[in-house]
Amino acid sequence: MLTPEENEMLTRVGPGTPAGELLRRYWLPVCPASELTAAQPTRFVRLLGEDLVAFRATNGQVGLIADHCAHRGASLLYGRVEERGIACAYHGWLYDTAGSCLECPAEPAGSMFHLTVKLPAYPVQKFVGLYWAYLGPLPAPVMPRYDVWVRQDGRRRVTVHPMLDCNWFQAMENSADPAHADILHHEFHARRGVRVTNSTRGNVDAIEAYDFEVVPIGLMKKRITASPAPDGEHPLIFPNILRVGNNTQIRVPVDDTHTAIFRIAFDPTPDGSIVEDEADPPVAYVGPWKDPVDAVHPFTRHDMMVDVQAQDHMAWETQGPIANRTVERLATSDRGIVMLREMMKREIARVQQGEDPLGLVRDPDHAMIDTNLEAEYITRVRARTAAR
Ligand code: FES
Ligand SMILES: [Fe+2]
Repeated sequence: MLTPEENEMLTRVGPGTPAGELLRRYWLPVCPASELTAAQPTRFVRLLGEDLVAFRATNGQVGLIADHCAHRGASLLYGRVEERGIACAYHGWLYDTAGSCLECPAEPAGSMFHLTVKLPAYPVQKFVGLYWAYLGPLPAPVMPRYDVWVRQDGRRRVTVHPMLDCNWFQAMENSADPAHADILHHEFHARRGVRVTNSTRGNVDAIEAYDFEVVPIGLMKKRITASPAPDGEHPLIFPNILRVGNNTQIRVPVDDTHTAIFRIAFDPTPDGSIVEDEADPPVAYVGPWKDPVDAVHPFTRHDMMVDVQAQDHMAWETQGPIANRTVERLATSDRGIVMLREMMKREIARVQQGEDPLGLVRDPDHAMIDTNLEAEYITRVRARTAAR
């Protein structure tokens, strides 16, 4: 159970909030690169509670600047792009990708007024077929070379999930919650051939214990069963990524009560051969998983039986737009949740002291980062289990 102040600290993402400032230290995906085209060169972006517009100038440069024009506030979503940047459709104030105003067409000839005008603007880079933005203090860190994002012995796929209409931290707490897997998702275990005889208990009786461990990339967890687990145990890559097999699910806080989810899947070549010509990965859009699509509980109905993700969305959204953790009843199986909250508090404090938080990388030549820690972790879990 948390105090109201602790709940606010972990969940709010706007500028100046503790979690918001932590999240601003990381590159966050904004949209597939294929969503900015010559025919549709602008896209509205809400990210960490800030309203922005992504645009692609005709010279190919991509910018991310404040939605509202500095003049009298019209949206730059409707701006016209040209080689130098984007011009507000209302009176033509022209901004470059750094947010600097280059021209105010209705001002007298020779006016230097535009030099006094600047909009908030953020760095953007393309990586694995997505545009990523960095909203924190400069200099920006580099993109972490997580194995499944950069390995060359295969190809990647991008999947865009439907908008999650609740706070980002509910999805991340779920990534530290192995107990839900055998109950919430038990129908899907049954489809994989695991016999489920009790709809309340699901497969939970096969679990002997849960194990959790803090690791350099975040948090590991495991359901310990009598037989070796057939699949991996889903590392949580701090602060906002879940790895499942060779997939990474990246949860991106849009604002306090909406979360975008992008999935990058890596498919290794069967023989380990190197792929030289990987272009932008294909992009698939999945869902919606509820009807009406843009309403929240209790004014919508989640379809629980589409797949595992749809069940997760049901659980996360029905906890509330921001879960009220002042009335929760944590139990022994929630140890991972407590560890994640402690990790958040620790990393928030580091940011507040001017340090880089966990997982930030500044060396552009850093080695590939191994996020598949299963084998070594499971060896340690076995030793711990034997010692019990
Ligand atoms: S409101 Fe944008 S130029 Fe006037
Ligand atoms: Fe789940």
